[in-house]
Amino acid sequence: MCGIVGYVGPRAATPLLIEGLKRLEYRGYDSAGVAVMNGKGVETRKAAGKISRLESALSSAPVHGTLGIAHTRWATHGPPTERNAHPHVDEHHQVAVVHNGIIENAPALRTLLEKTGHTFSSETDTEVLVHLIESAYDGNLEDAVIEALHLVDGTYGIAVMHGKEPNKIVAARKGSPLLVGLGDGEYFVASDVSAILAHTRDVVYLEDGEMAVVTRDGYRICDLNARPVDRQVSRIDWDLDQIERGGFAHFMLKEIFEQPQTLENTMRGRLILEEGFTKLGGLNLTKEELLAIDSVVITACGTSWHSALIGEMMIEELCRIPVEVEYASEYRYKNPIVTPNTLVIVISQSGETADTLAAMREAKRRGARTLGLVNVVGSTIAREDDGGIYLHAGPEIGVASTKAFTSQVVALALFTLKLARLRNLSVEQGRRIAQALAELPAQVQSIIERADEIEALAEQFKSAHNFLYLGRGYNFPTALEGALKLKEISYIHAEGYPAAEMKHGPIALIDDLMPVVVVAPHDAVFDKVTSNIQEVKARKGRVIAITTREEPALKGQLDYEFRIPETVDMLTPILASIPLQLLAYYIAVKRGCNVDQPRNLAKSVTVE
Ligand code: G6P
Repeated sequence: MCGIVGYVGPRAATPLLIEGLKRLEYRGYDSAGVAVMNGKGVETRKAAGKISRLESALSSAPVHGTLGIAHTRWATHGPPTERNAHPHVDEHHQVAVVHNGIIENAPALRTLLEKTGHTFSSETDTEVLVHLIESAYDGNLEDAVIEALHLVDGTYGIAVMHGKEPNKIVAARKGSPLLVGLGDGEYFVASDVSAILAHTRDVVYLEDGEMAVVTRDGYRICDLNARPVDRQVSRIDWDLDQIERGGFAHFMLKEIFEQPQTLENTMRGRLILEEGFTKLGGLNLTKEELLAIDSVVITACGTSWHSALIGEMMIEELCRIPVEVEYASEYRYKNPIVTPNTLVIVISQSGETADTLAAMREAKRRGARTLGLVNVVGSTIAREDDGGIYLHAGPEIGVASTKAFTSQVVALALFTLKLARLRNLSVEQGRRIAQALAELPAQVQSIIERADEIEALAEQFKSAHNFLYLGRGYNFPTALEGALKLKEISYIHAEGYPAAEMKHGPIALIDDLMPVVVVAPHDAVFDKVTSNIQEVKARKGRVIAITTREEPALKGQLDYEFRIPETVDMLTPILASIPLQLLAYYIAVKRGCNVDQPRNLAKSVTVE
């Protein structure tokens, strides 16, 4: 979603703000802007489009100062024009505001403000905050911000400055992440730690309803009634090279190639091979509590929702506990049923997705125990869940999720294995799964080393207008995820379907132009999938199959075959999704698409 960065210190602010924006560009990239305190007041530069356009604007008209705020936008209210880009300022160029989130009562507030003589210069909801702060200002910016925030409904992460207080940034949050970075004699404000990681690893996360007042001399945190709040400093253990491309053409490719290491990291210290068991220190659930779980709900959005579907099958198969998978955006509005022993698993790479966070809060409100599977350490979901399993996949920058997905599936497998062994899974069965998990990194490596084969395949299919992805059992979600990857970054229409269900609709679309990707490892449903391949072939569809071994039944049926190593059924989605990630990547690159920043998408969707 949108990104915020602010700086106060001895150095020139603009280059630091631009650097921060570039690191945040993956969050939203339809327009950007900076506001810098120039000694006389607030001066802004903005541009529609990518940060490079803002850089050009700044090189022809530089702004100088050592305190400033900046923003990269993903449009919600108002099209992505220069006029609507943040920072927004008042008529007198005194108040400047950058904002993530949505002010829900903006139309009513705007009408009121216009009646009292304020002139708006954008179509954004954010601008009401500017005028509210301006009206409330009486010599103290934090008081004015508090007064304004009491009038707005909705969500926000904001950073504000005022021409009359050239030494101060005020930041506040409700529903949108925000942190203060503590440098050496300098301070930062950011919506995401990547923006400031090059300068400091010490950060203070704001909680909802809190405000930070940051000056050259220090910072303090208070609530929206100006009562001081004590917050701990957190140390970030990500390295800078983890948020850089490191020689790869795109973050997405880097992240696909990192998967042998990221899967290793997800499992590190957690697998007990000889006992076929797992150690998960963050669950915060006793053995008795784990055994008492009688229903599981898994809620998530996007790619994380696909991993949830795989988790559902794992838990039902091995633990024999009923599992429901819910889109987070639907769950919270459906009056969900929560019993005293319902466990609600919340899956989110970012830990900030607004719908997922709201679903988790709703589940907690109804008395459920929540377990977060989150990648970003210290994110809101990770802080608010009752227990968690961190993915440890490292920062994922590519908008299309790859390494977080496979780590989510592994984390679900680790949890399933633990629960199943506590219930009724034998040591032998547990060992088989643990061993299969341990073998995954090397198996993924062996697939990645054959990326050139997928690149050649992409060349053949790059001009297709539609794709169908089919799979059954554990690999129906793999088909969904393969299709999502392709449509997200190449803009080719793609549908994922349960292979047999295809007969009830999509089969009508199959002709000799339709590539059909079939995920067909040698698992429990392989024979059934074979029949589905024949049904496609009978309609002249072009079959691209992901298989695990030579199979007489498939002879002459496949236009292209890519073999992946064998593993236990429940882990096949991990291996099968690697060639599908690569296929989507290479097709998109060959079509000239911006793989890391696909149109209209945002990495972390922090609005409902
Ligand atoms: C956005 C991203 C997807 C991601 C989804 C859920 O739509 O573009 O890649 O899967 O949000 O994000 P989360 O951080 O909650 O996993």
